[in-house]
Amino acid sequence: MKIAVLPGDGIGPEIVAEAVKVLKALELPLTLQSAPVGGAAYEAFGHPLPPATLALAQEADAVLFGAVGDWKYDKLERALRPEQAILGLRKNLGLFANFRPALCYAELTHASSLKPELVGGLDILILRELTGDIYFGTPRGRRTAVDGHFPGSEEAFDTMRYSRPEIERIAHLAFQAAGKRRGKVTSVDKANVLETSQLWKDVVTEVHAQYPAVQLEHMYVDNAAMQLVKAPKSFDVIVTGNLFGDILSDEAAMLTGSIGMLPSASLDRNGKGLYEPSHGSAPDIAGKGIANPLATILSAAMMLRYSLNQPESAARIEAAVQSVLAQGLRTGDIWSEGCEKVGTRAMGDAVVTALKTTMTITKS
Ligand code: IPM
Ligand code: MG
Repeated sequence: MKIAVLPGDGIGPEIVAEAVKVLKALELPLTLQSAPVGGAAYEAFGHPLPPATLALAQEADAVLFGAVGDWKYDKLERALRPEQAILGLRKNLGLFANFRPALCYAELTHASSLKPELVGGLDILILRELTGDIYFGTPRGRRTAVDGHFPGSEEAFDTMRYSRPEIERIAHLAFQAAGKRRGKVTSVDKANVLETSQLWKDVVTEVHAQYPAVQLEHMYVDNAAMQLVKAPKSFDVIVTGNLFGDILSDEAAMLTGSIGMLPSASLDRNGKGLYEPSHGSAPDIAGKGIANPLATILSAAMMLRYSLNQPESAARIEAAVQSVLAQGLRTGDIWSEGCEKVGTRAMGDAVVTALKTTMTITKS
């Protein structure tokens, strides 16, 4: 099983190192090969997604990704900014389905900004379409406005678009995922204003006919943003487009106490995937050894489950993470009174130790 390891920028290298440590501790036949991506690749090769990095990702069975981005690249032309690396990987690898679970661990209930009774036991799945929408719409650019409110002034434009097959394939995955969970899909759109959203709503409704056991509700994105903080547990699977999914998944992440806990999987039509924490590169804390590696470690677990067909190893990692939380170990982002504050490396080591213990229990 070949894994491309792309640590990236900011805290990326630190957190990926811990996930690699955990993967190695499993003693599976894994081949790990690293390559620079994002700002790190721009520094080394003049491009955020050099051909060799893309080729490595294409040849691998799965990709483990850290994070990209740093304010120091904000002045670069858009095509060379670190973010283009992750967008390029999503597009080139056809990773259209982004699974972002938001799970509130019992031990971290108090870390949420919401009342414990609202988030305790929270388990929702955001399924974000990842290769369409305004992120990849053409044309895009700048020009002089010929109409609108200020003709003659400079204007910028991006294009929101969705095609029927793009919506169909993500809708199928949403209903299938809900079928294995609590059987409810909330499709989020802005169909009261946008035609792309009306097509989205129509197609999701049509696909739903094939999944009678799953309940479907439609919700406007502004209302969804509100309901997520009002009654988050009323959701099971949320399926939505690229832009709305970007925003709502950050909101959902914060319900669980820390975005530092949340993994994600971005899959193609064959189940090959890229796995990355839901959070970003956090340049403000990079190199300090204090970042939370658990989202990346849990992303490695998702990789074992979805792309490498190793569900037992995935479950072991997840149990090991539960166990370190139960032991009271916390990085700064999830720390609270009475817990032991640990750094990135110590957290990774603790997961490895817990993993070995659960392995022994499973074996004996
Ligand atoms: C995410 C990030 C990316 C996105 C950025 C880094 C391009 O915010 O994965 O959610 O907007 O998709
Ligand atoms: Mg985002």
